[in-house]
Amino acid sequence: MRRKIVAGNWKMNGSKDLVQQLVGVICDHAGSLDAGAEVVIIPPAPYIPLVQQRADGKLAIGVQNVSQWQSGAYTGEVSAEMARDLGCWYVLVGHSERRQLFGESDEVVARKIGRVLESGLTAVLCVGETLDQRDAGEAEQVVAAQIQKGLASVTGEQWSKVVVAYEPVWAIGTGKTATADDAQAMHAAIRKVLEGMNAPAEEISVLYGGSVKADNAAALFSEPDIDGGLIGGASLKADEFISICRAFPAGA
Ligand code: 13P
Repeated sequence: MRRKIVAGNWKMNGSKDLVQQLVGVICDHAGSLDAGAEVVIIPPAPYIPLVQQRADGKLAIGVQNVSQWQSGAYTGEVSAEMARDLGCWYVLVGHSERRQLFGESDEVVARKIGRVLESGLTAVLCVGETLDQRDAGEAEQVVAAQIQKGLASVTGEQWSKVVVAYEPVWAIGTGKTATADDAQAMHAAIRKVLEGMNAPAEEISVLYGGSVKADNAAALFSEPDIDGGLIGGASLKADEFISICRAFPAGA
């Protein structure tokens, strides 16, 4: 049975004060968030210990990026092993902002996936097409290639530590969300691609990301192949994020 997950990617936002307030409010509601869904906070790396202290075991914690290398003279990098050492469970890999702004290729993404899985953490592989690619009818092909290349070296038991997040680039931070039908169609296609890689496709959580808000989360999370969300802007607002965490259909 695959996991339901709501993860808040704070991106490069936040402060010590925000951690205290936001994580405090979310934790106050932790008991009444959807019992079946894992709630994950993914703050900027320096705030991880503070989030952890404030969350006091009530929330899972992730990191937004790790190095493709294990350790050594790589100034400015943070390793997967360090994230594990700090108590993180999840690592975002290949977010479209990393691909677009920092030139991360599928090959770099694949190396990072390797590092994350070696360290025993769960990798959240982010994939998604641009608007031009969607308009050209290439969306499924682009996403399939990102998955096949990014997860090329995953084997056996490692699949249990893989999550895929479908984040259409045109929906990120734009207020434009994929319709629940379009998102469902892509999620079903992603599961087919995973099946083709001999992965246990039915067991792998596939999250949707891109302008998820309190008022569209329920429609998205009702789709059979959408197992939760990767939330950007709305994860910085306590009320919105808490509502999103409660948006799974009853009994899901
Ligand atoms: P928004 O929810 O702000 O569109 O961001 C989505 C995202 O990129 C999460 O990783």
